[in-house]
Amino acid sequence: MATLWHGRFEGGPSEALQALNDSLPFDRRMYREDIAGSRAHARGLQRVGLISVDDLEAILAALDRVEEELGTGGFEFVPSDEDIHTAVERRVTELAGPAGARLHTGRSRNDQVATDVRLVVRRELTEVAGLVISLQETLARRAAEAMELDIYLPGYTHMQQAQPVMLAHHLLAHGWALARDVDRMAETIRRSDVSVLGAGALAGSSLPLDPAFVAGELGFSSVFANSLDAVSDRDFVADSLYCLALTGVHLSRIGEELVLWATAEFGFVGLDDAFSTGSSMMPQKKNPDIAELARGKSGRLIGNLTGLLATLKGLPLTYNKDIQEDKEPLFDSLDTVRLVILALDGMLDTVTFHADRMRSQADSPYAAATDLADHLVLSGMPFRDAHAVVGELVRRALAGEASLADLVAADPRLGPEAVRRLEPGASVRGRSTPGSGGPEAVARQLEQFHRQIAADRARWGPAGD
Ligand code: ARG
Repeated sequence: MATLWHGRFEGGPSEALQALNDSLPFDRRMYREDIAGSRAHARGLQRVGLISVDDLEAILAALDRVEEELGTGGFEFVPSDEDIHTAVERRVTELAGPAGARLHTGRSRNDQVATDVRLVVRRELTEVAGLVISLQETLARRAAEAMELDIYLPGYTHMQQAQPVMLAHHLLAHGWALARDVDRMAETIRRSDVSVLGAGALAGSSLPLDPAFVAGELGFSSVFANSLDAVSDRDFVADSLYCLALTGVHLSRIGEELVLWATAEFGFVGLDDAFSTGSSMMPQKKNPDIAELARGKSGRLIGNLTGLLATLKGLPLTYNKDIQEDKEPLFDSLDTVRLVILALDGMLDTVTFHADRMRSQADSPYAAATDLADHLVLSGMPFRDAHAVVGELVRRALAGEASLADLVAADPRLGPEAVRRLEPGASVRGRSTPGSGGPEAVARQLEQFHRQIAADRARWGPAGD
């Protein structure tokens, strides 16, 4: 078997070496990026006179054919195709003859693969950002509907009922976390937007290459400054994995709440049949598997990030084969986030909110305890004293002495006026500060959120792109 680099070798590679070394099984996913890089490189070679116009045409025609073969499954791989780069070059040479043999002039797989992965990040992270925005649109739609229906629920700290908030407020809290994810993806794409073709194996070239021209052909907005850094830098992959891990963490938090809310104990939501599963043994069960997987998959996303960081740690300059380990975690994280978002989006789109149950929990008089303290503050009492007064009434009510409302009514510092703060819905309606969980503030927030996602959507392209 003749490898592309067989010249100084007497024998062929062992099976064990190939099994470990070959990256074709996973890097063939980048074939379009590899071909785009080769087109740009070939044009660059022709422009500086290293290949003729005829050679360029033969190479471009062969690249078109290879792209078609790879796209339709008609490409025949051979055992010496150790990665997508060698496979494409080998086939181009078969098709274009000596012109094909000139394609790798001034280029190494080291600058080639770094280029391909940057292009993958640009394309695929853009797609994932579009899916994140779709999920935000679903949250916004459900939030608007929850506002129409005046649904509020207890907000929690320490998983203890704390203060009531509009359901829309809760949904949008997740929406804003996702907005930061989109922003982080934009930043990661910006950092990936550097062309590294022309760095060669590590030191550039003695040939009159024009890296800026090639960068322009590929739509990169800047060119590497240091060839050593160009071939060994995988920061943009680590950035991508961090974006995807943190998005995964956000999705896991949404998932966990859906799991809790779907329990009989909470009873806040009902799951649509199409987005829940049954039990093989217990006929009564309806399980929130999607939400659990949203929670569980965050583990592998974090693992992919920490795995790559461990691979990169301590690597000497420049390219080392260890770096081949960048692609599997990257592809896995992209695929995982995609799968989770699509399923969670459907789940959130179809979930039924049990408004009465949410409201009845939120209307517990204890959830309005802070409002009673605020009432005393408005009559001039220092907050710390007001906290103690209300705390004492809560303690007596919990001990069974009387209802909190009766104790409040009987207390000369509070009285019947204060009891109104315990009426259903009074607490949530009383919250009016900017960014708070009350209805007017949330209505303004929802408008702000709509503006944010519309701006992001305009930047990232229409839904479904
Ligand atoms: N398959 C390799 C990778 O993914 C391509 C670069 C190989 N470079 C080399 N000098 N052997 O990193």
